[in-house]
Amino acid sequence: MPTLGSKELVALLAYLLEAKSVLIPEIAYPTYKVGALLAKAEVIEVGIDAHTWPDRADLAWINSPSNPTGRVHSKAELEAALTWVRKSGATLASDECYLPFTNGIQAHSILEIANGDNRSILALHSLSKRSNMAGYRGAFVAGDSKLIARLLEIRKHMGMMLALPIQNSMAIALSDHSHVEMQAGKYQTRRVVLAKALIEAGFKIEFSEAGLYIWCSRDESDWQSVAWFADLGILVTPGSFYGVKGDRFVRIALTASDENISCAASRIFEAIKHDK
Ligand SMILES: Cc1ncc(COP(=O)(O)O)c(C=O)c1O
Repeated sequence: MPTLGSKELVALLAYLLEAKSVLIPEIAYPTYKVGALLAKAEVIEVGIDAHTWPDRADLAWINSPSNPTGRVHSKAELEAALTWVRKSGATLASDECYLPFTNGIQAHSILEIANGDNRSILALHSLSKRSNMAGYRGAFVAGDSKLIARLLEIRKHMGMMLALPIQNSMAIALSDHSHVEMQAGKYQTRRVVLAKALIEAGFKIEFSEAGLYIWCSRDESDWQSVAWFADLGILVTPGSFYGVKGDRFVRIALTASDENISCAASRIFEAIKHDK
């Protein structure tokens, strides 16, 4: 089912499913929580390991590779989430919008793990990331066909259909993979350039093996780090935006141009020289 960007469904899913309790990762893209709050559902922050999740809930979100951490779920972790959903009676929504950017690391869609039994699972994908088409607002969800038929029925009365020219552009973009590899290569090159400077400046990089971001900490408050970067003219996001456990981290996006990423790395190296 096409969606108006994946954010739209992330925000609406709990409401559309009439979920009363929603599990979200303890460090996560904020819209999972926003969606649960819009639905007036209870928000329960959980760790990655589904063995530790409460027995019952109506909806659970997973996100691999993660925004903001770049962490990739192992096959075993996805299997545990699937086992949980079979027992709990919940819907498992897997936000896979960064799956095309894994830098050779083995990453799996929940649909692959489910191996054809898609009951109660949904996988969200987005052309915003895969094909750099954020302005098109083109995304889609795949999975449990009964569940999707139900969502489709309600959504058409909400006017949430995607314009045909956008659907046609999505079909063209999805039929080509070379531009995705080219884009993935660019992100990886930027990651290496910036990571070198960050490590030199005393930042510890955690996860960040995939996706679009570097998640790092200098063991100080996130806002202290944000201020240090801001003095250099570099804009980063405080980790606390993604959950209290992120409050000693910052997230740095690799979406700036190659030139600006190199410039940021040079400024960091210059600043270290002055600090010494
Ligand atoms: C994890 C995650 N999911 C969903 C989205 C929404 O993207 P879009 O609505 O452009 O598809 C984002 C955007 O940053 C994101 O980071």
